[in-house]
Amino acid sequence: EQTLWPVIAIDGPSASGKGSVAERVAQAFGFHYLDSGALYRLLAYAAHTRSVAWNDASKLAQIAAVMEIRFENGEAFLDGEHVSAHIRSEQMGKGASEVAVHPEVRTALLQTQRNFRQAPGLVGDGRDIGSVIFPDAALKVFLTAAVETRAQRRYDQLINRGETASYETILQDLKQRDLRDTQRSSAPLVQLPDAMLVDTTKMNITQAVDMIIAAFKKTA
Ligand code: DC
Repeated sequence: EQTLWPVIAIDGPSASGKGSVAERVAQAFGFHYLDSGALYRLLAYAAHTRSVAWNDASKLAQIAAVMEIRFENGEAFLDGEHVSAHIRSEQMGKGASEVAVHPEVRTALLQTQRNFRQAPGLVGDGRDIGSVIFPDAALKVFLTAAVETRAQRRYDQLINRGETASYETILQDLKQRDLRDTQRSSAPLVQLPDAMLVDTTKMNITQAVDMIIAAFKKTA
């Protein structure tokens, strides 16, 4: 008899703070952490380096089936190469959103994601963690914030890194990404009826983390 370790599913739009929140919640419980967006980013990057187009569903699915991915202390490796900086770019964020529309690609990455469910539990963030990957999650969270707030945070993040950025461009990109992620037919981002809404427009990361920790403790 196989034990099904508990899962906390945190889904939401780009730049809602899912990553930071999910990592801290995982830390609080000593759980594993699945950054599912990184898988789509790794695929977009792998395709890019092989000159495979982001709309070529069958070639993308082939690459997804053979690419060797590894996470170590939050760093991402593709076929042994450290690629964190490459996959965190705005370009690969857009590429990830584009490769993610293909059902063949989502199927190819399904088992990889389920394999992260290991003792003593898992926190997974993405768009379809609670709907498709782990529909039996012990706790489902829809983590969001107003698009202008998300754009401002992304802008501040880039400026702090010493990069140049335009708030207007970021805002338009985010709106486009939201539209693609919510309007696609395969596993779109939705606010599930059984998900707890956490809106960080007027809340900081710590408050969001505390809310989720308290809610999960109640499920036990
Ligand atoms: O969370 P992120 O911004 O790193 O995700 C990048 C893109 O990957 C996102 O715009 C859509 C896609 N994605 C997805 O379709 N399903 C997931 N579970 C996670 C990400």
